[in-house]
Amino acid sequence: MDLDALKADLEKDFLEINSQEVLNILKVKYLGKKGHISELSKNIKNLSKKDRPEFGKTIGELRKLCEEKIFAAQEQIEVNSINESLEKERIDITLPGSYKSQGKLHPLTVTTLKITDFFSAQGYLIEDGPEIESAYYNFDALNIPLDHPARDMHDTFYLDNGDLLRTHTSPVQIRAIEKRGAPLKIICPGKVYRSDADKTHTPMFHQIEGLVISENVNFGHLKNEIMTFIDFLFGPDTKVRFRPSYFPFTEPSAEVDIMDKKTKQWLEIMGCGLVHPNVIDMAGLDPNQFSGFAFGMGIERMAKLLYEIEDMRSLFTNDIKFLSQ
Ligand code: PHE
Repeated sequence: MDLDALKADLEKDFLEINSQEVLNILKVKYLGKKGHISELSKNIKNLSKKDRPEFGKTIGELRKLCEEKIFAAQEQIEVNSINESLEKERIDITLPGSYKSQGKLHPLTVTTLKITDFFSAQGYLIEDGPEIESAYYNFDALNIPLDHPARDMHDTFYLDNGDLLRTHTSPVQIRAIEKRGAPLKIICPGKVYRSDADKTHTPMFHQIEGLVISENVNFGHLKNEIMTFIDFLFGPDTKVRFRPSYFPFTEPSAEVDIMDKKTKQWLEIMGCGLVHPNVIDMAGLDPNQFSGFAFGMGIERMAKLLYEIEDMRSLFTNDIKFLSQ
């Protein structure tokens, strides 16, 4: 085979290469040890000294041409394979996407966060306490002695060892004073338990307790705090009244009512009062130096008013239909 024939063959072979296999075969056919170009190069020894450089140059060019063609073919094969997979993996962006539904906070959590956020911003520390309490913290230290009728009011769940499920968040008042001393400003959200179940009562429910202890705290301070809070939660045009009441751990005591904007009826929303000197004393502070105010409210009641919930029990039945409203 002469050089021109080889070149013509080469051009023809490389015209259309559609697979890596074909390209590999061609590589061997031309550039392999026994390939055409190598074989042809051997002829150089049969040439005269004069003709050798010319022949060598032409063979060199041919080899270079072949390498270029291999390179181009290799590139083309890769481009084709990319295009092929792009075509195969094409995404139809007009198809509907897959949808993950997002979780939401429970209405009680939202209400709790709203209330604790408000009080944190006023400088209250968020405090926690145990749900299994001793009778001492739940009753005695709150000025509710054994024979006190208020103990019956609470429908307490007792444990075999004499401890109980706390019936209100007020025991946290005592624990916080014991732990932190005075001055003190705490807000304590948590679960409480009473043996009670109907449309407006569940055996477990949530309260938020507030306590401020300092020097010269008076009822005006308490009233201001509560009014600001009600403004924030229910709007500034909310009608509020303080109704004299009784709690063993506060004196004087009051219940706070707000007027329902639709029905024009008074709704009780919380209990409050000035901390009874006995309570301050039992928690280890001098009642002649320190005074304070406390308030407590039911979170379900607040959620009920904020979200117009009819049946308190729907807060606990985990009904997605209700919760996702
Ligand atoms: N602990 C009272 C209750 O459960 C509420 C309350 C708290 C009243 C603090 C006054 C002061 O009803």
